[in-house]
Amino acid sequence: MPQDREVSRRDFVKAAGAVSAVAAAIPAVHGAPAVQKVRAANDQVQYGIIGTGSRGSYLLKHLKGIDSGRCVAACDINPENLKHGVDTIGNNPKQYKDYRELLAAKDVDAVIVTLPLFIHYPVTRDALMAGKHVFCEKCLVFKPEEVHALRALHLEHPKQTLQTGLQRRYSYFYQTVKQMVDKGILGNVHHIHAQWHRNMLNKPSALWTMKPGGEQNIANWRVYRSMSGGLTAELTSHQVDIADWMFGSQPEFVMGLGSLDTLKDGRDVWDNIQLIYKYPNGQKMTYSSISTNSFLPFFNGTRPEMGEIIMGSEGTVEMTVGDDVHPAIAWWYREPPKAAAVTTKAGEKKKEAYVAGATMVASGAANGPIPIMTSDLNFTGKESFIDKEVKFARRWLTSKGVMVQEEQRNPVDVELESFFDCCRTGQAPKANVEIGMADSVAVILSNQAMDEGRKVYFNEIEKMGKPAVPGKKG
Ligand SMILES: NC(=O)c1ccc[n+]([C@@H]2O[C@H](COP(=O)([O-])OP(=O)(O)OC[C@H]3O[C@@H](n4cnc5c(N)ncnc54)[C@H](O)[C@@H]3O)[C@@H](O)[C@H]2O)c1
Repeated sequence: MPQDREVSRRDFVKAAGAVSAVAAAIPAVHGAPAVQKVRAANDQVQYGIIGTGSRGSYLLKHLKGIDSGRCVAACDINPENLKHGVDTIGNNPKQYKDYRELLAAKDVDAVIVTLPLFIHYPVTRDALMAGKHVFCEKCLVFKPEEVHALRALHLEHPKQTLQTGLQRRYSYFYQTVKQMVDKGILGNVHHIHAQWHRNMLNKPSALWTMKPGGEQNIANWRVYRSMSGGLTAELTSHQVDIADWMFGSQPEFVMGLGSLDTLKDGRDVWDNIQLIYKYPNGQKMTYSSISTNSFLPFFNGTRPEMGEIIMGSEGTVEMTVGDDVHPAIAWWYREPPKAAAVTTKAGEKKKEAYVAGATMVASGAANGPIPIMTSDLNFTGKESFIDKEVKFARRWLTSKGVMVQEEQRNPVDVELESFFDCCRTGQAPKANVEIGMADSVAVILSNQAMDEGRKVYFNEIEKMGKPAVPGKKG
């Protein structure tokens, strides 16, 4: 990085101070990793998992390290997947083939639903009616009628936790960025761009690969519209939720283009989609998900596939939640300062304006990136002299790109731990039913916008999936 593009020490300290201030406002659930300790059995939430396929087993791998919950039951119609899930958690939960039998078990307080999208609603409904707390993976529901039905059902069961699997809501970096947006550190945020690009040709994903049996094989649920919302449900859902969160509202309308151009193996979901969401006050999110290229133009190209860029009049943040191998990170770039005042002397005026323009281009790069720091690098005021110097050195090295600050805890661990806390305390989850529902609505309407090639307004959902009023025309 050329010298003139580096952040000066003074600038850095000032900037880091601003983020420390917002980061300090975030509850300290992100501190040290969960300590594995034995709890009294009655202090643990006893849960069952329904669906031990890819996501179910992944969650079980994380659940194994969370001692506030205990897996007492597991269910899957596929014996191999059931065995894999049971082996992953390792404490010999009772095994079920029929989820209704699991729901009838008295020792199950809560269920984790990691099933194909088209059966999220019936299983969540049955679980709520059986008195269980529910963590259901995104998207919470599949069809418009399920939006209305689950809202009503949740109102009838207010004491039961209903959380959805939008783990970015539990990320330290994402929470810090939300605080930056709310406190005006990025100025007026009008634009967000998000992408999730994969190269399915060079690196096929087992989840998206067509298996024998076509639509009759439930293992192919992701690639058929009868069971799946395609890329929109599986990928966009996470990122439109980020836009809703950052903008603090749902979109007014969505328009887009979906296309199946490469993975023509009988599937009927698109392999590339582009969407534009219009929010109130002129705010917009542009979105892209493709299947033939995985480049992510953030973080100097060091991370693949997915991320979001939040653009404000005073600054920009690029962030990605990453995965188990590449933890979440976020980098902040400040906008160049306002152009200098124009001088009064004729002749010099033009020159001044030109210099201001040139400065703008150069200082756009000069102001970044400033990596957002993890909470362990916040100054508490209680550190010893040495600890303070070490923290300062780590912050400084991070600002120079020598060290990379990454999320200390996987947000998946935080979301699961938080679910058990909510079950015990009755507190509303961060990814609550309304957030899950807004997310599902966005997916349903985005697919509709691409299907029908028109702008779809978000208030249209209120008329969809409701029985026609008898005797009323239209
Ligand atoms: N939050 C995230 O980042 C994230 C990531 C991946 C997947 N997911 C979500 O997790 C869910 C599951 O996805 P997946 O990748 O694990 O799919 P998967 O196909 O790998 O697993 C689904 C499992 O459900 C089982 N199943 C199907 N019908 C059943 C029934 N009636 N009763 C019991 N078991 C049944 C299948 O046999 C399979 O083992 C999806 O909604 C997906 O969107 C979320």
